[in-house]
Amino acid sequence: QSSVLHKFKEILFSTMSSEELLNSLDSFSAREDDVFLVSYPKSGTHWIAKVIENIPNAEITLTSPIELGDISKFEELKMYRKRRVIPTHLNYSMLPVDIKQKQCKIIYIIRNPKDTAVSLFHYYRDNPNLPGVETWAAFLELFLKGNVVYGSWFDHVLSWESHRNDKNILFIFYEEMKKDLSKSIKKITTFLGINVSDGEINQISWKSSFREMKNNAAKENCDPNKTICALTSNKNLVFRKGAVGDWINYFTSKQKRVFDELFTEKMKHSELARHFED
Ligand code: PPS
Repeated sequence: QSSVLHKFKEILFSTMSSEELLNSLDSFSAREDDVFLVSYPKSGTHWIAKVIENIPNAEITLTSPIELGDISKFEELKMYRKRRVIPTHLNYSMLPVDIKQKQCKIIYIIRNPKDTAVSLFHYYRDNPNLPGVETWAAFLELFLKGNVVYGSWFDHVLSWESHRNDKNILFIFYEEMKKDLSKSIKKITTFLGINVSDGEINQISWKSSFREMKNNAAKENCDPNKTICALTSNKNLVFRKGAVGDWINYFTSKQKRVFDELFTEKMKHSELARHFED
């Protein structure tokens, strides 16, 4: 594809994730109170991270993704004293084994794949750390083949769906957050075992609105150690439209049909499919 991506175990990664680090993921030592924010790219990771950061008295440190950087990454992660909130776009099978053994809390964020594809298309176009892409049609083809960074959306969500009922894993849908953010905040805080009042939920909700986050993005640019995106430290690239259903402005009826056929085939045994019927 391009020199800014490289393949590891059949999946494309940014060259900012060194091969040595990817090879050593299983040497990571987790702490029992670690929280992992897991998603396929462009599914709402920054949003959930902001919700968690805004929980009063949460006493957490948000780190950069576990797979970002070189082998010194794990030493850097050891330095944090507070409860670590660690993002990652890894699929289930690549998740470091100690996280599984210690049954750390994991929040898996999932978004309608058509909107995810549109969001990733813009990211490919605007982000110098990703390969250039000429047209939406060309990008969609790559997306459907899984020839994009972090591989196939289908493989990613299916790898995680197998663990949906594990007691340490919470699934949160982007669309659910758009519909009733307070309810999602309540779910997240309950899952993390943190008490919040209704007033505090309103505060968190306001501070993590799209508008507020977009307005603050410029100011937060960008210490690479604080970025939660594995693909850029430029947060201005992250807050684009923040909408549900934007795909309709991009997919032709033929593209929708091709997409839906593949979706039906890949998701035929999945309970997640019903969330994304349109
Ligand atoms: S990344 O770069 O993979 O970590 O991106 P990620 O944060 O997972 O997803 C980016 C998309 O989430 C949208 N977003 C939001 N939507 C609604 N409300 C809030 N507060 C919010 N914050 C981020 C962001 O705009 C990206 O989606 P698109 O469709 O491109 O706008």
